[in-house]
Amino acid sequence: MSSSTSTVTVGDKSVELPVKEGTIGPSVVDISKLYGQTGMFTYDPGFTSTAATESKITYIDGDKGILLYRGYPIDQLAEHGDFLETCYLLLYGELPTAAQKADFDYRVTRHTMVHDQMNRFFTGFRRDAHPMAIMVACVGALSAFYHDSTDISDPHQRMIASMRMIAKMPTLAAMAYKYSIGQPFVYPQNDLDYTSNFLKMCFAVPAEEYKVNPVLSRALDRIFILHADHEQNASTSTVRLAGSSGANPFACIAAGIACLWGPAHGGANEAALKMLEEIGTPDRIPEYIAKAKDKNDPFRLMGFGHRVYKNYDPRARIMQKTTHEVLNELGIKDDPLLDVAVELEQIALKDEYFVEKKLYPNIDFYSGITLKAMGFPTSMFTVLFALARTVGWIAQWSEMIEDPSQRIGRPRQLYTGSPERDYVTVAQRG
Ligand code: CMC
Repeated sequence: MSSSTSTVTVGDKSVELPVKEGTIGPSVVDISKLYGQTGMFTYDPGFTSTAATESKITYIDGDKGILLYRGYPIDQLAEHGDFLETCYLLLYGELPTAAQKADFDYRVTRHTMVHDQMNRFFTGFRRDAHPMAIMVACVGALSAFYHDSTDISDPHQRMIASMRMIAKMPTLAAMAYKYSIGQPFVYPQNDLDYTSNFLKMCFAVPAEEYKVNPVLSRALDRIFILHADHEQNASTSTVRLAGSSGANPFACIAAGIACLWGPAHGGANEAALKMLEEIGTPDRIPEYIAKAKDKNDPFRLMGFGHRVYKNYDPRARIMQKTTHEVLNELGIKDDPLLDVAVELEQIALKDEYFVEKKLYPNIDFYSGITLKAMGFPTSMFTVLFALARTVGWIAQWSEMIEDPSQRIGRPRQLYTGSPERDYVTVAQRG
């Protein structure tokens, strides 16, 4: 893959470094031999210019606002496909044939139940526990229940662990929700599709018959497709780093969930909705825009800006359409939050500060309004993101494990602490 070289001069040394080209997107300078040849590391906090891996799964062109899963544009997948088909694509690299799809759907569906002893885990949590705290714990705990799929050197065990996580994540997420509202857990119903089954586990109660609304199910399925993978973001890099040590897949995905929880990442959908609620009415928008622009105020417009997208997030466009579909279906004509969101978007897109810094709405800007309208509390938003991203984490983790050149991830540092000094006893310290 290396097609040319680049000469880098460091101090008085010039070194030839290989340049690797991908199929699309920027080429990379391979600096893996730089330390050996010059005694220097590179420095890139936040990894803004560093490719940590080669990958064939997802491609983003942030300037053009393009997102591809295995080469397929996200809008085409969201429009024509379903989530399990997207899972197959991300895991195996190709869209499934009808027979492959039926087999995959069947296999995932047959793993939806969790070990019944998991119920006891839930009762150990306080009723007001954040569902993301429960998810971190319960997904990590799966490794204590499924010993027969933790040997990462065995491809069959890796496959079973992957199926288990994709299948059980909705069950665990729904259990976390039900626990928080004091309702009994609802068991999966395997003749429902993946997303309808999840809606039922969240919103059905034993006292009444529950009918899945196909419009809401389709909308949520599309939201899952939009969140399924996003190349080497913080949580995915966390999963890869955790996995690089040989940790079992359940532990790695739990690490990814923990990272996703942060408000700069998956927690932004919850934060964006809270912000819209706080703004309350369109007349208060200028006040918040001013706060976002004030260097001395830590406030940021949640749901705006992205490390990679310096154009409209392609997922946000589809999300915005989905929001309108869901509100129409539910007969919500005037949603004050939607009014604030639409107005805020219009103002920010014209404001010099946001235009100059290329801060556009991201996927989280509209997803909160949609999920709230469906009946999910804000605390569940990031859980839904984790549910959908699980397949992306697994695909990236598998790609890493199957790469023969894979080694433990071990970043270096620029040390700025004290040089070596001698220990002094307490009595001698001034
Ligand atoms: N509101 C106001 N100013 C902002 C915002 C914002 N939402 N985002 C970035 N800026 C400013 C920032 O202050 C900085 O200004 P300056 O150059 O004058 O110091 C400049 O824009 C660049 O920001 P940055 O923090 O260096 O950019 P980053 O790539 O490190 O951060 C981000 C990306 C997503 C963390 C950030 O835009 C942000 O905090 N956004 C709000 C949180 C959010 O919506 N996150 C969801 C991301 S999409 C879902 C996901 O992938 O998890």
